[in-house]
Amino acid sequence: APVSAPDLTTCGPADKPDGSTIDCCPPTTTTIIDFKLPDRGPLRTRLAAQDVAKNPAYLAKYKKAIELMRALPDDDPRSFAQQAKVHCSYCDGGYPQVGYSDLEIQVHYCWLFFPFHRWYLYFYEKIMGELIGDPTFALPFWNWDAPAGMYIPEIFTDTSSSLYDQYRNAAHQPPKLLDFNYSGTDDNVDDATRIKENLTTMYQQMVSKATSHRLFFGEPYSAGDDPSPGAGNIESIPHNNIHFWTGDPTQTNGEDMGAFYSSGRDPLFYSHHSNVDRMWSIYKDKLGGTDIEKTDWLDTEFLFYDEKKNLVRVKVCDSLDTKKLGYVYDEKVPIPWLKSKP
Ligand code: C2O
Repeated sequence: APVSAPDLTTCGPADKPDGSTIDCCPPTTTTIIDFKLPDRGPLRTRLAAQDVAKNPAYLAKYKKAIELMRALPDDDPRSFAQQAKVHCSYCDGGYPQVGYSDLEIQVHYCWLFFPFHRWYLYFYEKIMGELIGDPTFALPFWNWDAPAGMYIPEIFTDTSSSLYDQYRNAAHQPPKLLDFNYSGTDDNVDDATRIKENLTTMYQQMVSKATSHRLFFGEPYSAGDDPSPGAGNIESIPHNNIHFWTGDPTQTNGEDMGAFYSSGRDPLFYSHHSNVDRMWSIYKDKLGGTDIEKTDWLDTEFLFYDEKKNLVRVKVCDSLDTKKLGYVYDEKVPIPWLKSKP
C-alpha cells in the first residue's frame, strides 16, 4: 500500500546530524482539504536565476515575496520559518508512518524524492504569489546544469537582499564553479575542464545511466517499508553534492544547505530544487522518460499548508503534469549536456 499522509498530531522532534534534536512540527488543525487541480489560468513560467538578474522588475518581486514571507509570524504556516520546517519534519524523522509508528516517513533516498519536492515548491510558489498579489509569479531555478548557471546565482549573494543567507561556504562564492562530484575538498581543476566534467555527469545521470524507473526516480518505498531504500541518479549526483558544496563547512552540520533540517532556511534551496524539478520535466519532455505506474507511488499522500493557510492533502498522481499545476520552465534556456555524451 502507498505511504499515507502523516498525522500532524503525532509529529515529534526531528534529528540533526550531530545527534541533537529540533522541533520542526507545523501548526495543527482539524480540517484537511483534499487537493483539487486548479482551473487553467495563465501559466507561471519559471525562469533561470541568472536571467532574473537581468530583469529588475522580476527580481524585485522575488525579493519582496521572500521579505514578506520572512516577516510573517513564526506560527503562520506560510512564514519562511515554517516553510523551512516542512523539509525538516519530512526528512529528519519528524513523522511516524501512519499504521507503523516505529517507522519514520523519509522522502529522500527513494522514489518520493521528485514528487515530494514538486509539491513542496508548488505551495511555496503559490504562497509567494499570494503575498505579493501576483498569481503569475514563478519560482526561478538555479540553472546549474548549464555553464551560465554553474555557480551560486548572484541574486542570492547580495547581502542586503532577502534572498541572502549567511550560512554558505565562503570559498564557493561566484564565480567559483560548482563541482558535481564535490565531497568536501576543493581541487584545482581549471574551469573549462570542470564545465566539461559537470556536463558529462549530467548526461550520465539523465541519459546513459537513467535506463530504468528505479535508476531515475529511486527505489520503491511503500507503507511499512524501512526508510531510505535507495536514491535515484539525480538525487545522488548532483543534487546531494550541490547541497554539500553550498553549505558552510564551519558550521556543525554544514548548515544551512548541507543538512536536511536546515537547508530550507536558505532561499537558494528552493531554486536548487526548482532545477531538480526541471530535470524531471526534461526527462519526460525531451528524453522520452515516463512516470512510474504503480499505485504505491501514485497514491502516496503528503500534507502541506496552502497560500490561504488551509491544510491540503495531495497525492503523487496529481503532481505529474506541471501544466496542470499551472507552471512550465522557460524553454529558451539551453540544455548543453544533451549533447555531452562522453
Ligand atoms: Cu529534500 Cu535537496 O533535499
